[in-house]
Amino acid sequence: MAIYLDHAATSFPKPEPVYRAVDAAFRNVGGNPGRGGHRMTLEAGRMVLDARETAAAFFGVRDAASVVFTSGATASINQALFGLLQPGDRVVTTSMEHNALSRPLHALEQRGVVVERVAAGTDGRVTLEQIRAACSTPTRLVALSHCSNVTGTIQPIGEIGRWCRQHGILLLVDAAQSAGVLPINVEDDAIDLLAVAGHKGLYGPSGIGLLCVRPGLRLEPLIYGGTGANSSEIIPPTELPERLEAGTPNLPGIAGLKAGLDFLSETGLHVLAARKQEQLQLLYAGLEKINGTRVFGPTSLENNGGVVSFLVEGRDPAEIGFLLDREYGILTRVGLHCAPEAHRTIGTFPGGTIRVSPGFFNTAEEIDLLLQAVASLTASS
Ligand code: ALA
Repeated sequence: MAIYLDHAATSFPKPEPVYRAVDAAFRNVGGNPGRGGHRMTLEAGRMVLDARETAAAFFGVRDAASVVFTSGATASINQALFGLLQPGDRVVTTSMEHNALSRPLHALEQRGVVVERVAAGTDGRVTLEQIRAACSTPTRLVALSHCSNVTGTIQPIGEIGRWCRQHGILLLVDAAQSAGVLPINVEDDAIDLLAVAGHKGLYGPSGIGLLCVRPGLRLEPLIYGGTGANSSEIIPPTELPERLEAGTPNLPGIAGLKAGLDFLSETGLHVLAARKQEQLQLLYAGLEKINGTRVFGPTSLENNGGVVSFLVEGRDPAEIGFLLDREYGILTRVGLHCAPEAHRTIGTFPGGTIRVSPGFFNTAEEIDLLLQAVASLTASS
């Protein structure tokens, strides 16, 4: 049996109720929500509404209608950026972003959007002062990740959000790594656009995500098509969520996401956070004792959302990852983690790092086995 330590890529296994919810929705809820009026379509519609309300409560969204289901954080970010920005608009972002944010921004740059990238420190962190300085030229949007998928570095999004709100600048937060791991409240943190992955910290299936849009903020749809509402019109509805949800929704995914959110609420985010801190503590302390390893990213545990990136001196990270898998059955992710600029920032480009990202169901024994395996591989260098 493998030891899965790649939860930053996708969480596995899922809590049992998530499997059951996906199966039940797929097997028992036959209708297409919002399409037609028979009893099965109504039941499907109720299920989607229930999930939407659960997600709204989880992220502090006042109006559940402004929670939009998407296929994942990448789709949410693309919808937010392409739906909002016009040539001439200025965006401030950071050097720690995943390609899910930096590639659409680059594409928009080709169309006349101006993008400024704030250089993070080698620990991956940017400060409010840096963002303020970068916004001294009129800026439409600040767009950044809450937690780095490379180093686990947590950005001060609440501070940044409140400052942006006071200065009329919109804030887009890529919460792919942080949703379900760190507390997020769109009102308290003054987030205008929150992009969420369902399959990572929320323990839902892949292929489902959320975009929370501040009520009143109007986005152009990225996808046009049937919505079940305003069918006589050739233009999309003006109201959320229908405006941004053309096409048949991913019902099993939505049901699984709701079950994941319920699991988190019933378990308690503080309990999950405490487990994560224990796991990080073991990883930091263990890797420090192994001669020849070097850990990247935040130096204090509190600034780490749950990802540890490291290198073994003189060894290719890809080789270490391969040997961890083949010789020890331990699954990590190696390389650039789809975030080349983050690796340039921390000095690990182009080879990248070995990344360990534990989840709620990993045990201290599993972390210990990883550390023993790394120690053996390092000793054989
Ligand atoms: N963004 C995911 C990762 O970091 C897939 O592995």
